[in-house]
Amino acid sequence: MPEIRLDKFLAGQLPDVSRTGAKELLKKGLVTVDGETVKRYDHKLDPEKAVVAVSEKVISYREHLYIMLNKPAGVVCAVRDKLTPTVMELLPPELRRPGLFPAGRLDKDSVGFVLLTDDGELAHRMLSPSSHVPKRYFVRLEKPVSDDAPELFRSGMTIDEDEKCLPAELEICGCDSSSDHNMECFVTLHEGKFHQIKRMFEATGNSVVYLRRVRIGGVTLDDKLSEGEVRLLEENEIKSLISY
Ligand code: URA
Repeated sequence: MPEIRLDKFLAGQLPDVSRTGAKELLKKGLVTVDGETVKRYDHKLDPEKAVVAVSEKVISYREHLYIMLNKPAGVVCAVRDKLTPTVMELLPPELRRPGLFPAGRLDKDSVGFVLLTDDGELAHRMLSPSSHVPKRYFVRLEKPVSDDAPELFRSGMTIDEDEKCLPAELEICGCDSSSDHNMECFVTLHEGKFHQIKRMFEATGNSVVYLRRVRIGGVTLDDKLSEGEVRLLEENEIKSLISY
């Protein structure tokens, strides 16, 4: 395995630690490599062989990166695009790696949870038509949800004449006296057809005005992440996605 710099290793393995944060840990003498305190951020190591510890807690090395992005509107879920900024451009330098890509898409105008990873096997499993990993979305509509919509979603509706959808859940929220009465809901899909939620609501005579993905499998979008921000997935979150 090629050697990498210690600050990059730390920022790539520890959620909530940026390259600057890593340098601070090093300066404070909190990091050991193979039992020796190392303060130099440019110390090189083989990540598969070196035993790195922070405050005496050994960091178990993960080969792949799993990144939660809170996608803003106006960027596309692609590795590169000639015309439009991509989700990859939102990554801080310490998390940029060849082989990273968005595992699943959100439309350019949709916001919320996008998983970026270089784990091709996991992405393939999540994206394959047979995977059915549930994805939950918060949706704001132009008009109140029609009475028949929840049942139509539940029974597996047909969109654009011949595209059959898997059963989906539609939960109406905001049943108070506000003007958004019945115009906000959560939808859980078990597949990912092109513009699926927009097309499902269009089939009920409604229109989506705002769409945010809030959960993938058992992992919920971190509400501490502002739009455009990223963080590494925690160990338990990675396990939950891998075991889906
Ligand atoms: N459904 C849509 O219509 N758009 C998205 O971005 C995701 C789900």
